[in-house]
Amino acid sequence: MSKKEYRFAYEEFDSADELNAADAALLKRAQEATADAYAPYSHFRVGAAARLSNGAIVTGTNQENASFPAGICAERTLLSAAASLFPGVGVDELAVSYFNEHGPSDRPISPCGICRQSLQEIEQRTGRPVRLVLGGQKGKVYIIPAAGQLLPLAFTSDELK
Ligand code: THU
Repeated sequence: MSKKEYRFAYEEFDSADELNAADAALLKRAQEATADAYAPYSHFRVGAAARLSNGAIVTGTNQENASFPAGICAERTLLSAAASLFPGVGVDELAVSYFNEHGPSDRPISPCGICRQSLQEIEQRTGRPVRLVLGGQKGKVYIIPAAGQLLPLAFTSDELK
């Protein structure tokens, strides 16, 4: 038997004011995108914005449904849009923000489990890491160098060979 340990490092900023200009601009796009969310059930509006390796900026929002499981998160809305508009193009950086209609939006959220799986697929498919910028409308910001770090021991296409 051997013990294994998994660690990952990420950056924590006290506020978006500490970010470099490109990161701050992408997070702002994600914050603004929350206005386009369709979240009449949770009232938790999520916005995502990505810079692709061809320079394009793509946004996505959560789109809920009266049949709750049919709803989709902002991150996967974005990944589907990006892969449809620009097939095979890497997602260099993805910012996620939110606006909680029921309370403060002053700390980062991080992608749900299903979105982590989709993020790892796009990393594997394009061969490029997706850098995450996570922040609310204000407060701390986390930067995670590669989304796949959030899904250790992931199930990947390698298993299907
Ligand atoms: N949601 C996202 O869009 N992204 C996340 O990272 C977490 C959750 C959405 C799903 C649902 O519409 C609402 O937020 C509440 O869970």
